[in-house]
Amino acid sequence: MDATDMGEDLERVLVEEERIDQRLDEMAAEIDRDYAGENILLVGVLRGAVMVMADLSRKIHSRVEMDWMAVSSYGSGTKSSGVVRILKDLDTDVHDRHVLIVEDIIDSGLTLSWLKENLEARGATSVRIAALLRKPDAVKVKVEVSYLGFEIPNEFVVGYGLDYDEKYRHLPFIGTLAPKAYGG
Ligand code: XMP
Ligand code: MG
Repeated sequence: MDATDMGEDLERVLVEEERIDQRLDEMAAEIDRDYAGENILLVGVLRGAVMVMADLSRKIHSRVEMDWMAVSSYGSGTKSSGVVRILKDLDTDVHDRHVLIVEDIIDSGLTLSWLKENLEARGATSVRIAALLRKPDAVKVKVEVSYLGFEIPNEFVVGYGLDYDEKYRHLPFIGTLAPKAYGG
């Protein structure tokens, strides 16, 4: 899928494909440097993190294993409440493991702060976070992100794993939607 396929649904491109690729190179280099020789358990948060996981993991030289979680945060509409339900749990025991959570976007930060605490409580040696995008609201909840791609404005974005109504996940860049695209 590309900008042409989006037609008038696309408002503008926020982060180009090349910039994502370059930034993931840098993040992977930082990860390799920080974990120096350790085995890392990458935990991707379904479904949005699929693209970041696929591209970031292939740039990491350290030994990694991958597992996935699906969570849903209760809330009204698009705002998450911080009450999180596990829809799909890990198949891996994280006890004594170095866990690196891989996420697409941090908005309020409530989902990730809950997830981090949850994995720490299972006895992980370390739990860090890698996220491609962060919105300004994330400052409200103190969640430390060790590897961050881009700070973006407080707009709803799609592409590179992120969806609107399950659409546009396969767009190779991050973009904003024209108001008419929300019309259904
Ligand atoms: P928190 O708990 O940080 O939730 O508020 C983060 C989750 O909210 C979703 N989210 C978005 N999804 N475009 C999307 O497609 C967006 O602009 C957006 N902002 C937040 C996403 O599921 C993320 O995991
Ligand atoms: Mg998500």
